[in-house]
Amino acid sequence: MMNFDFHNPTRIVFGPGTIAQLDRRVPANARVLLLYGGASAQTNGTLDEVRRALGQRDVQEFGGIEPNPTYETLMRAVALVRAERRDFLLAVGGGSIIDGSKFVAAAADFEGDPWQILESEGRSVHRALPLGCVLTLPATGSEMNNAAVVTRQATQTKLVFMSPHVFPAFSILDPTKTFTLPARQVANGVADAFTHVMEQYLTHPAGGLVQDRLAEGLLQLLIEIGPRTLAEPENETLRANLMWSATLALNGLIGAGVPQDWATHVVGHELTALHGIDHARTLAIVLPSMLQVRREAKRAKLLQYAERVWGLAGGTEDQRIDQAIAHTRAFFEQLGIPTRLSAYGLGAEEIEKVVAQLAAHGMTQLGERQDVTLDVSRAVLLASL
Ligand code: NZQ
Ligand code: ZN
Repeated sequence: MMNFDFHNPTRIVFGPGTIAQLDRRVPANARVLLLYGGASAQTNGTLDEVRRALGQRDVQEFGGIEPNPTYETLMRAVALVRAERRDFLLAVGGGSIIDGSKFVAAAADFEGDPWQILESEGRSVHRALPLGCVLTLPATGSEMNNAAVVTRQATQTKLVFMSPHVFPAFSILDPTKTFTLPARQVANGVADAFTHVMEQYLTHPAGGLVQDRLAEGLLQLLIEIGPRTLAEPENETLRANLMWSATLALNGLIGAGVPQDWATHVVGHELTALHGIDHARTLAIVLPSMLQVRREAKRAKLLQYAERVWGLAGGTEDQRIDQAIAHTRAFFEQLGIPTRLSAYGLGAEEIEKVVAQLAAHGMTQLGERQDVTLDVSRAVLLASL
């Protein structure tokens, strides 16, 4: 029987023109720190719209948070929060900005070394500053979850923390703000959201019939609208549905009460930390091989995926599984995302470095049954060459 406690306190304000609602959502007397990334939010006018909506509030700004946000940069924001007694954080950007802001929110009042937040996977977080978000890139689901991923540049360590204290209080999702995304980021967002669903769906049957159908619906939706969004970049309906599906892919709903995998993400994080490959691209490299190497443990769900998501009916069971994995790889490639390590200039000699980093970070028992050992991860990477 299923057993779960599902709670998500984040308010979602969705639709064109909703940035103006910041005025209602941010307390009038808040001492705001506005956090953003590189040039995109400025050049596409989002930052100006946010500044206008905040009106006469006491606002300071911290820009320059990089994709795959670093501890080193974020600690400068923490220093600013402390020095200027900021009491409300407003993140404007994609997953990197929201994740980085979650870390700043948790670190601002943290006693001791804030890296401990990552090392304890969030268990040492007992409070955080309130956080609001304006999302500009559908992908991570960070706008409606309690996870954040931070990289320590000095050691090339990319770790996740989770804490109930860092759920955003609200997130504003205006799909028209995503029109300026380069095709590569749109494709990345589709691949990331797709893999989030897979990490919570493609494990073993556990009686989560509701979760299965929701997951299959989201996968089919992404297969349908991912390539179309790339082909019709001005289509607002597609943009809106991509945005909402990416949020639902990782807001806890489809994963409540069912086994979860996440091995693809953990191996992918090492590839990003070592080689700077975009997060979603690492997933496209790892996921098809992960399914292949672990096909016996995942057999029942692979057959369900083949039939319900890809409509595969003929042939033997093993042929259907082969086809489902091939379709998954082809889907990423169709989005313009290469799925082989060699396409990123990486050869067999790099694999031991990735495995060594997994070992150094204690990532030796991954997956829904904790049976993805270093040997399994190595086999997955070899299958990704
Ligand atoms: O830096 P700027 O100039 O703002 O450009 C950004 C950035 O270069 C650009 N961009 C964002 N919105 C735009 C835009 N360009 C034009 N128009 C817009 N509207 O896009 C680039 C990538 O942004 P980033 O925030 O890095 O992308 P994404 O949302 O994919 O976030 C990736 C990060 O999230 C983590 C990843 O590991 C990675 O660090 N993840 C967080 C998760 C979570 N919190 O639950 C789960 C995920 O699995 C993932 O691990
Ligand atoms: Zn992801």
